[in-house]
Amino acid sequence: MNILDGKKVSEKVLENVKERVSSLSKKPYLNVILVGDDAPSKIYVNNKRKAAEKVGIRSNVIELPSDTDEQTLLDLIKNLNYDDEVTGIMVQLPLPEHINKNKIVEAINPGKDVDGFHPENVGKLVLGLEPYFYPATPQGILMLLDEYNIQTEGKHAVVIGRSNIVGKPMAQMLLNRNATVTVCHSFTPNLDEIIKTADIIVSAVGKKIVRCKMVKKNSVIVDVGIFRDSNGKLTGDIDFDVVSPFCDFISPVPGGVGPMTIASLMYNASKVYI
Ligand code: GUN
Repeated sequence: MNILDGKKVSEKVLENVKERVSSLSKKPYLNVILVGDDAPSKIYVNNKRKAAEKVGIRSNVIELPSDTDEQTLLDLIKNLNYDDEVTGIMVQLPLPEHINKNKIVEAINPGKDVDGFHPENVGKLVLGLEPYFYPATPQGILMLLDEYNIQTEGKHAVVIGRSNIVGKPMAQMLLNRNATVTVCHSFTPNLDEIIKTADIIVSAVGKKIVRCKMVKKNSVIVDVGIFRDSNGKLTGDIDFDVVSPFCDFISPVPGGVGPMTIASLMYNASKVYI
């Protein structure tokens, strides 16, 4: 068993981003909008701010109260779209329920949509065209696989979870790399049987789901889940100690996909289209 060391690889990616930023004539300026006081979101946003600082990307975190109305947020995004100084905009999700997430995502200029969530970027991804930005988590996962020379072509990749942030773009990006992709979700009846045939498993569910007897020898396992177990310990979708002896590669939690997501977002934030 080999560890997919996201911490180590992310440092290498961040070094490259830093070098790239230092050579740019127009310096990137990332604006992150955080609405409300969701505790994990605050931590994620702070990590993004710190990573930006590390690679020389200017950043601005705009914190708004949870009762901010949709129009106020739309007006703010419009101003950021028009501001030539601002090269990247991201709105941290989840948003409070009274705000229509899709409307917000659609309002962002696709050339500044560092999350890669705008329909124009998603559409281009699906069509195999070049989007301005690829979503950070799946892009970070592919960077991690590339670092370990893990091939996707002709492999059976099983993606568990179908969110717009991870599952769907992950499946599409693996398909674009010639994997045979199966997407599983909470309505999939025969998950065990499907996972048994997987060469690559990407689990993005947020609960313990993959057990050792499910995985094929020589499989590659990527654990996107991150949550606290009943003892308050950070853990992923995969029972690492139990499953890891049965596979070829596995990403740990923490220290796997999490740091790669941040590094991948910084890679995006270093791209300047205006
Ligand atoms: N919430 C959880 N992951 C993400 C992400 O990648 N981008 C944004 N904007 N919000 C998130």
